[in-house]
Amino acid sequence: MHIKTINLVYFSPTKTTKKILESIAQGIGAEIINDIDITASCSNNKIRIEKNQFTIFGAPVYGGRIPETATKRFRNISSDNSLLAVIAVYGNRAYEDALTELKDISQSCGFKTIAAGAFIGEHSFSLNDVEVAKDRPDKDDLNMAFSFGKQIHDKLCNENYSSEIKVPGNIPYRKYKERSVLSPDTLHSDCKLCGVCVDVCPTGAITLNSHIETVKESCIWCCACVKFCEYNARIMNSSVVGNLQEWLIENYSERKEPELFL
Ligand SMILES: Cc1cc2nc3c(=O)[nH]c(=O)nc-3n(C[C@H](O)[C@H](O)[C@H](O)COP(=O)(O)O)c2cc1C
Repeated sequence: MHIKTINLVYFSPTKTTKKILESIAQGIGAEIINDIDITASCSNNKIRIEKNQFTIFGAPVYGGRIPETATKRFRNISSDNSLLAVIAVYGNRAYEDALTELKDISQSCGFKTIAAGAFIGEHSFSLNDVEVAKDRPDKDDLNMAFSFGKQIHDKLCNENYSSEIKVPGNIPYRKYKERSVLSPDTLHSDCKLCGVCVDVCPTGAITLNSHIETVKESCIWCCACVKFCEYNARIMNSSVVGNLQEWLIENYSERKEPELFL
């Protein structure tokens, strides 16, 4: 099969997953006809993918799983046995059951998974000058993603293209971690009410009135509002993430490399 068109479908609050998918698509060398970003809180459209198109699903790893918010939105995409690759992007700790889960989600949406990859992105909790997988994906990661795209292209040119792949992970999946009802704070004195935090929040937890308000119960801690605030007016209090950051630095500083399954 020669891939002529690609659909990208991704949940990517801090955009590392999006970067990886774009490099893979470049490596495949076909036109992206649908760039389906399911990160925004309004992403609930039902979309049907045609049989002769290739699709890539991408999501970050949260607690060794695919974030629940993303799972619900992936389920709006359907297909009749068309071919797909799944990509999990994690913050240099571990991806545990995420690839297995994403493969299962894609199969229940009607896709056939012929490739998978686990890539590394800057950790969402790389904040307050604490650096975890800082600036990843870097040039080497993106080159690897590009060459993975080429390998997918070559696999599909081969007559055994439709072979299903196996990925690491356990069933039942790890339990979702219980979420504390917390969110980043707004430094009202620095906030310019530009509304970027409102736009990048994947759950619609932030609203702009006379000042910024956050519904803590809706926050999934993705940290997009912190990372994309130009005025550093959104902060994750170190009493909330400090211990977690220390634990990540102590145990997961050694560089991990992407893993590819074809
Ligand atoms: C709530 C939460 C949980 C996370 N859990 C993990 C994890 O279990 N393992 C890991 O290595 N990274 C973990 N991360 C880091 C993200 O997987 C990583 O930063 C990823 O690159 C974010 O993708 P995005 O830029 O597309 O949003 C977590 C991040 C958040 C916000």
